[in-house]
Amino acid sequence: PDLDKMIGLPDFDYAARNYLPIANYTYYRNGAAGEWSYRNNLEIYHKFHIRYRTMVDITGIENTLPTTILGHNFSAPFFIAPAAAAVRGHPDAELGLVKGAGAENILYIPSHYASKSIEEIGAAKKEGQVIFQQVYLDSNDTRTQQEFDRIKAAGSKAIVFTVDSAADGNRHRAARFGVGSADSDYTLITWDYYHKIQNMTDLPIIIKGLGTVDDVKLAIEHKVPAVYLSNHGGRQLDTAQSTLETALEIFREDPEIFNKIDIFADGGVRYGADALKLLALGVKAVGLGRPFMYANVYGEEGVAKAAKILKHELAIDAGNAGVADLKKVDSTYVNWNSNCYY
Ligand code: FNR
Repeated sequence: PDLDKMIGLPDFDYAARNYLPIANYTYYRNGAAGEWSYRNNLEIYHKFHIRYRTMVDITGIENTLPTTILGHNFSAPFFIAPAAAAVRGHPDAELGLVKGAGAENILYIPSHYASKSIEEIGAAKKEGQVIFQQVYLDSNDTRTQQEFDRIKAAGSKAIVFTVDSAADGNRHRAARFGVGSADSDYTLITWDYYHKIQNMTDLPIIIKGLGTVDDVKLAIEHKVPAVYLSNHGGRQLDTAQSTLETALEIFREDPEIFNKIDIFADGGVRYGADALKLLALGVKAVGLGRPFMYANVYGEEGVAKAAKILKHELAIDAGNAGVADLKKVDSTYVNWNSNCYY
């Protein structure tokens, strides 16, 4: 379908499913094993219902989306999560993602396993555009140092170190097409390792893939500049809890934790109302992986269109919830007992 027929983010999934070679679509779509986490990531949002307020002057709500992430200004509290192999969606690959993000002034985090090089992506940034770079553990410290130096030279402003894939992803659906996860050794990802690599660069290194309040408290002790809750889009450990559950776990332990460290989150965000629920708990910005990979089937314009759609939904959902300023949305806007089984 034409780009102007795209109404919501799920339309890009539909378009990608019908347009891409099945192996490529499956690579993006797949989750681990029985895909319970994949589905729960999507379904969890509708289990908590919005306590919308009325008689609130919400004029100008659309102007309250801009936010800062690690001190950098962006037009909205959502970003493009790191996802490998963008070339499976479009020949421009990550260049469409970085340009679409630049056009809409949202954060883009290229993957360690991008199809284009760190330098090619860095060179496609527009004037002043801020990107962060995702990395995985590399057991060779010399290579890690070289990679960090390249990341800095290419203009990235932070490093996102992914820690939720200590062992292989067990991706049945994609493995049937020969496009499952790359075989890796069991890696030893520890706090000591984090400190070692933080000493290799002056860029802030944030940790992606935390899934419990316990690990977030450790991250605060270890003075990590920010954490990013994620279960890797349900692609690693099947039945791993969703980030909305993790964010709620943090909130229930101590809402102040969200003021002690910047917390980002991703997984299953497809609608403005999904993002609103994470923001309501205190999450600073939310990431989207698959929706932008599917949007990138249309290249740069598709990525920009997806960002526009989500901005609009965030504004109208906040407005209908009676939130006058998106930065002031808080936990009282959601009934956390909606479905009673938490
Ligand atoms: C990912 N994800 C991911 N994460 C990461 O840190 N490095 C990576 O290289 C990848 N690669 C990757 C490929 C594909 C095809 C997908 C779908 C995802 C995980 C990604 O950053 C993010 O956590 C999830 O995609 C979020 O879930 P949604 O938005 O896809 O539901």
